[in-house]
Order: sequence, then C-alpha cells, then structure tokens
Amino acid sequence: MGRIKINVVLLIILKLFLVGTTTGEETYENDRQIDELCSSYTYKSVKPLLDYFRQVRNELDQSEIKEKHTSEINADLMIKYHEIVGIHEKLMKEAFQLDEYKNQIIRKENDLQLCQSKVDKLESEINSQQTTINLNWFHCLHLSDKSNKLEICEDQLKKLNSSVIEKDEKISGYSATIQNITEHQKTISLKLEERQTMLFKKDKDIEICHAEIIKLNRSYLNKMNSSSCLPFEEYPGVHEIKVSGVGSFDVLCDSQLAGPGWIVIQQRIGGKENFTRDWATYRKGFGSMDSDFFLGLEKMYRLTSLQQYELYIHLVTLSGSIFYARYDDFKISDEDNGYALSLGTFRGNIENTMRDSDKMKFTTFDRDNDASSDNCAVWFNSGWWYNNCFKCNLNGLYGKDLVWWSETANYLKEAKMLIRPKDE
Ligand SMILES: *[C@@H]1O[C@H](CO)[C@@H](O)[C@H](O)[C@H]1NC(C)=O
Ligand SMILES: *[C@@H]1O[C@H](CO)[C@@H](O)[C@H](O)[C@H]1NC(C)=O
Ligand SMILES: *[C@@H]1O[C@H](CO)[C@@H](O)[C@H](O)[C@H]1NC(C)=O
Ligand SMILES: *[C@@H]1O[C@H](CO)[C@@H](O)[C@H](O)[C@H]1NC(C)=O
Ligand SMILES: *[C@@H]1O[C@H](CO)[C@@H](O)[C@H](O)[C@H]1NC(C)=O
Repeated sequence: MGRIKINVVLLIILKLFLVGTTTGEETYENDRQIDELCSSYTYKSVKPLLDYFRQVRNELDQSEIKEKHTSEINADLMIKYHEIVGIHEKLMKEAFQLDEYKNQIIRKENDLQLCQSKVDKLESEINSQQTTINLNWFHCLHLSDKSNKLEICEDQLKKLNSSVIEKDEKISGYSATIQNITEHQKTISLKLEERQTMLFKKDKDIEICHAEIIKLNRSYLNKMNSSSCLPFEEYPGVHEIKVSGVGSFDVLCDSQLAGPGWIVIQQRIGGKENFTRDWATYRKGFGSMDSDFFLGLEKMYRLTSLQQYELYIHLVTLSGSIFYARYDDFKISDEDNGYALSLGTFRGNIENTMRDSDKMKFTTFDRDNDASSDNCAVWFNSGWWYNNCFKCNLNGLYGKDLVWWSETANYLKEAKMLIRPKDE
C-alpha cells in the first residue's frame, strides 16, 4: 500500500513541471535579423540601445524558446505521463497482485512456521525417542552381555552344585565311617578301661605279693639268725637280728651312706630325742629309729665281741657340708670295764677328732668315768666316752653341744654312727 501512495505523488509533481515550455532554435534566428537591420544606423549611438534591445529580445526569445521547448516537452511529458500512468496502473495492478502474493506468502510463511515448529517438535520428539531407543539399545546390549554371563554363571553354579553334591555324598560316607570308627573306638576304650582296671588290680596283687615275699624273705633271713645287716643289703630299714647274749632285737640297716650292710647304732637328725639319760638307759638304748636314737651299749658290746667291726661316722655341718670319719676296729668292752671304746685306724676327710675318746669308758650323769675332776656328763647334759670332757660330742645337746671340733667342721645339724663286720 505504501508504495502505491508514493507513485501517485511523483506523477502530480511531473505534470506541474511540464506546463509553458518552448524550443531554443527560434531565438537564435531572430537575433541575427535584428543585427542586420541595425547596421544601417549610426552604429555608435544606436549600439548600446541595440544591445539592450538585443539583450531584452534575447531574453524574451529565450523565454519563448523555453516556453516552446517547455510545451514540447510538456506534450512529450504528457505522452510519457500517460505512459507512466499506464505503467502506474500496470504497476498498481502488479502491486496489488504482489500484495496478494505477499499475503499468500505471509500465510504460507505462517503455515511454514507452523509446519517448521511441528517439524521441530517432531524432531525433538524423534530425538528424545532416539536417545531412549539408543539407551534401550545400550541396555539391551548390556542385558544380553549380562544374560551371557548369567548363563556362564549358571553353568559354573551347576558344576559347583554337582561337585558339592558329590562331596556331600563323600562326606556322608566319611561320617558313617567316622561314626563306625568312633563306636569302634568306644568299645576299644571300654575294653581298655576294663583291661586297665584289671591291670591295676594285678598291679596291686603284685604289690601285695611283693610285700608278702619281702616279709617272707625277711622272716626267712631272720630265721638265719643273722648278727648283722649284711643279709639285708637289698632291704634297707628296720630288721631283726639275733646276737648271742642279748637275743633278737631290731636294728636300722643302711645301704646308702657307705655301701651295703651297715647297722646304725646312733642317729641325730632332728633333735627330737632327749639325750640327757642315765647309765641304765644308755645301756639299754633309747629313741626312735625314724628319728634320733641310741642303740644301747650292751648290744654294741655283744655285736662287736663276736667279730671285728668297722665304724663309719657321717657328719653334716650347720652349713650343710658333709664329712666322714672311719675307724677300722670298733669295739666296746663289757659293762664291768665301763663299755670302754676302741677305734682302730682312722680314715676320713676330716680331722681325727674322736681319737680323744679312744680307750675312754662311758660316762653318764649317774656314772662318772671321765678324766675330768667333775662329771662331764653333768656339765654337758649327755652320755659319752668323755675324756677330760671332749673334742667331739655326738650325744651332746642338739643345737648346742653337738660338735666335732676341727678346722673344717664344728657345730653339726646331723650325725650318724654306723658299724659293719670288717672283711677279713
Ligand atoms: C543343586 O542340585 C540339587 C539336586 O540336584 C537341586 O535340588 C538344587 O536345586 C541345586 N541347586 C542349585 C543352586 O542349582
Ligand atoms: C563298621 O566296621 C566294621 C568293623 O570295623 C565293619 O565290619 C562294618 O562293615 C563297618 N560298617 C560300616 C557301615 O562301615
Ligand atoms: C637259729 O636259732 C634257732 C634257735 O635259736 C635255731 O633253732 C635255728 O636252727 C637257727 N637257724 C639257723 C639257720 O641256724
Ligand atoms: C631274699 O634275700 C636275699 C638276701 O638279701 C636275696 O639274695 C634274695 O634274692 C631275696 N629273695 C627274694 C625273693 O627277694
Ligand atoms: C631329759 O631326761 C632327763 C632324765 O631322764 C630329765 O631330767 C630331763 O628333764 C629331760 N629333758 C627334757 C628336755 O625333757
């Protein structure tokens, strides 16, 4: 519509411009005729006027020419105007058609836009579907992969299952065997227990039997009328011996301190016995063989009068050092001679201290046979073969006067006197 308006205004302006125009050729011809006319006059006087006329006429001519020109042009223009109008009309028509086209185009454009948007929408839908499809595809691939794996897994599981079942069967077989074995074991262990109790019984029987044999052997040995511990070499402990003059009596036999067959005649191992005794008691003997005791002077005299005896003295100092002193001809005289002591030759790993008592009679608080002006037995609450009292006092008060004076041992916690028939 805008374009049509502009064209109408342009045509009106053209029409106004074309009114009153002439041609220029006529003006030139007039000027030449006027110049020829004037040549006859006094040129000098007329000349300016003539120029002036000429100028005016030129001007007039020119305007005439212009007018003529203008009219010509006007006519021309009119033709052209009409042409233009025709063209204009044509243009108008075409513009209208153009408008129509334009509208159509606009409509179509709208349609196109609508279509485009639809297409876009569809495209986006398609895209989204594509992605879902792609996803699904991926999923599917994945799933198929997994299903393959699953199949493999199932296969493996089946194999495992079958092997497990096989093993189960084996295990149940084994467990049956184990049960059988266990039961077998039970019966065996029961039998073993029975055998053990039987064995235990038999052991006890054997023990009893053994004790019986020992008893029998002892009584048999005792019936041999032995006068020493020599036959009891295998059986240390208390045994009955028979000695002419005193008859049968118990003695303690020792086979450990200095070889087999020793009779223990005196023992101090715990201080549980009272050694402050009178003559009669020392004559008879006192104490307990599992503790401290003195065998008795009369028995010692009777034993040692039968044959030669050796004496072994075992000494343990307070600090625990062990010593021994041996005399090879131990003899006790009869009571009339005061149970006097004879020792023989000394041998040992300690000083020959007891030599001081050699040949001395026995002294008790009620019978003084010592070399002292006083009674050593009273002084020292004991009975011993005192000289001018003593250099050793194995019957001395336990923990006070139980001594063996020497460089290596003095106070004692243990003392034992043992005798054995001397080998010829
Ligand atoms: C294993 O095998 C037994 C017997 O064939 C069956 O009952 C069971 O379901 C199987 N188990 C599996 C996990 O396959
Ligand atoms: C159990 O053991 C006995 C003897 O050892 C055998 O005779 C028997 O066959 C076994 N039974 C089983 C079930 O293994
Ligand atoms: C032991 O002495 C008794 C009598 O005192 C006597 O009958 C017996 O025969 C003696 N035994 C032996 C083996 O000498
Ligand atoms: C009995 O004692 C003697 C002497 O000690 C010994 O030789 C003998 O083997 C003993 N007998 C038995 C059965 O112990
Ligand atoms: C030991 O015996 C004597 C007489 O036998 C007695 O006088 C004394 O009191 C007794 N000593 C102890 C500690 O029992």
